Amino acid sequence: MSNAEDHEGTRRDFLYYATAGVGAVATGAAVWPLVNQMNPSADVKALSSIRVDVADIEPGTQLTVKWLGKPVFIRRRTAEEIEMARAVSMDELMDANAENDNKPGVDASDENRSLDENGEWLVMMGVCTHLGCVPLGDGAGDFNGWFCPCHGSHYDTSGRIRKGPAPRNLLVPVADFVDDTTIQLG
Ligand code: FES
Repeated sequence: MSNAEDHEGTRRDFLYYATAGVGAVATGAAVWPLVNQMNPSADVKALSSIRVDVADIEPGTQLTVKWLGKPVFIRRRTAEEIEMARAVSMDELMDANAENDNKPGVDASDENRSLDENGEWLVMMGVCTHLGCVPLGDGAGDFNGWFCPCHGSHYDTSGRIRKGPAPRNLLVPVADFVDDTTIQLG
């Protein structure tokens, strides 16, 4: 990825913490002037919703699309990946929140993170919750999901943080199927 995108990821991370009011205290007043510069421009807002054709995604592969300037991972999981994700008990998780914009406040069970009931589809922001790098996928890391090489964060097959400095599960954005083979983001 380019440095520009990398930088953008970092800024976005700041935006989250500032908005949520968590971490902003620790990082101090210097964060706030940055926030104003981060408001999305009009052209970005215009693309706040996109549709993605997922007909050609085979089980065990993922598509990365750019949305609102950020990578989004759309993965079609294998039965094994789903099974691994669903076998994990809540007390093994570092972040017990689903971090799913479609289901605010629910626990981080895989059922609460996957897009469909069977768990075949997982849609997540491809942005490490530590400092915004793009994690590597396709079974990477100690938990066979995603691995962020920047500082060593390991995510499982549900995109939940399991080891390393990242504080939160990979964010699941607002997403839904609009027909059998099309996912809408936003
Ligand atoms: S940015 Fe991913 S581990 Fe630090």
